[in-house]
Order: sequence, then structure tokens, then C-alpha cells
Amino acid sequence: MKSSDMLSREGILNAVNTTWAGREVTYFDLTDSTNTQARILAEQGAPHGTLVVADQQDGGKGRRGRSWVSPAGEGIWMTILLRPEMNPINASMLTLVMALAAEKGIRETTGQKSLIKWPNDLVLNKKKICGILTEMSTDQMEIKYVLIGIGINVSQTEFPDEIKETATSLYKESGELIPRSKIIAGIMAALEEYYEIFMKTEDMSGLIEVYNERLVNLGNEVCILDPKGEFRGISTGINEAGGLMVRLEDGSETEVISGEVSVRGVYGYV
Ligand code: BTN
Repeated sequence: MKSSDMLSREGILNAVNTTWAGREVTYFDLTDSTNTQARILAEQGAPHGTLVVADQQDGGKGRRGRSWVSPAGEGIWMTILLRPEMNPINASMLTLVMALAAEKGIRETTGQKSLIKWPNDLVLNKKKICGILTEMSTDQMEIKYVLIGIGINVSQTEFPDEIKETATSLYKESGELIPRSKIIAGIMAALEEYYEIFMKTEDMSGLIEVYNERLVNLGNEVCILDPKGEFRGISTGINEAGGLMVRLEDGSETEVISGEVSVRGVYGYV
């Protein structure tokens, strides 16, 4: 649904109340992909916390080479540039940190309580409202920068056939429209908070509890689609490394590491 909710650089900067997350904003009415634009800015030396936001993307990227539908006026399509001083091996956990921040930011600004589908989708009433795409550039085992792109379906009432069974929007579920800049500001504040906790240990130890409380898969039977073979088990939550622990039929626990695998509920997407 098109609404009168206009996005602008000034509107976002006025709403954001943080120390570093989203203090520098680049805004596009239309661009290919905010991840692509953030990469260009990163290569030009843009600082940690730079935020790239678009009202519409015509080349939105999803995970595993998929495209991400990003219509004008109906979503939050944004990428934050981070320059963490840490071991690149741990950087993929930043995706989990962003999922937590997005959940909190959305809840505090819209009242909608979404859940996390490990590792990094947010679901509302068992349908996807948010996806996250993290990309990284390294130089001799040092992180140059990390780009965390996040797409939130805000006010769509209809979705293309390929995703209409699994996708929804905040408006579709709640009937309420909240200004996008307010939601962006809420996510930036939450990201700053969770990022500081994460960086103390460079792992999820300080965030496990809050993550598992929001985990939609917790205690449920899940189906792990591993390229080496599919298997089922009961998900028992994430560990300090951000892996999903799954209890197998024989009682043993195995760690599922994000990347190639995908997790499904036994009865569908969640
Ligand atoms: C997924 O497949 O679930 C990840 C979707 C990530 C979409 C966002 S929208 C803003 C940013 N720019 C992109 O091109 N992709 C991410």
C-alpha cells in the first residue's frame, strides 16, 4: 500500500539518536542495491556506522543469489557499513546481532513482536517480514569492512506469486502504519546497544539468552537442508559461536553452522 510516508535523508537524520550507527546517511529515491552502494562508499573510506537507505531498489539482492523485491514506498531497504576490529571468522555473527537489533527496533517503534528464524529472518505470524544479507571485504585476514543489508516489508498488501505464501508486511499483520524513519532510528539504537555487547567478547555469549528468547525454532522439530544430506532434530537454541544446536533422535546434539544450510519447520517455512 502506498502511503504518505516519505523518506528523506533529513527525516532519517532527525529521527536517529545514536552515537555512531546511522549518523552518516546516504539516501536514494531509487538505486540498484543499498549493499552495492554501501560497498562503493566503503571503498571511498566512508566511516563505521554509515547508513545507506533507499525508497526503492531495482536490483535488490537476497541470500544465495536470489533477488529481493523492493518496491517504492513500501519497505525499509537499507545497509549499514561497519568497520569492526576483529577476527573475520567471527564476522558472520554480526548478522545475528542485526537480527536482534531489528527485532527490538521494530518492537519498540511499532509494538509488533516478531520472532527470529535462525540465523537471520524475522517472522510475524509465521511469515517473513525481514531478511538480512551480510557481505564482507577482507585484506590479509583483516576486515576492511562489513556490510549488513536489511530489508523490512512495511506496508505491502500484496506480494509476487513466488513469495506470497511465506512473506508478509508489518501493515498486513497489524493494520497500522508507522513512519519508516522512526523504525530505522529504533533499529540503529538497538544495533548500537547489541553491537557493543557483542564486541566485548566477539561472540554471542552476552546475547545468547535474549536471542534464544526470540527464537521461533526453539524447542521445535526442524528440518536441516544440508547439501550433504537432509536431517531432522529438535532445535535447542544457539551457542556462543552463533551456531544452532539441534538434538538428534539418538539424544546427541549437533551444531548447525549458517552458510550453506537452511532450516525449515517440519510443516513449512517456520
Ligand atoms: C534474504 O534473502 O533474506 C536477505 C534479504 C536482504 C535484503 C536487503 S534490502 C537492503 C539490502 N540491499 C540489498 O540488495 N539487499 C539487502
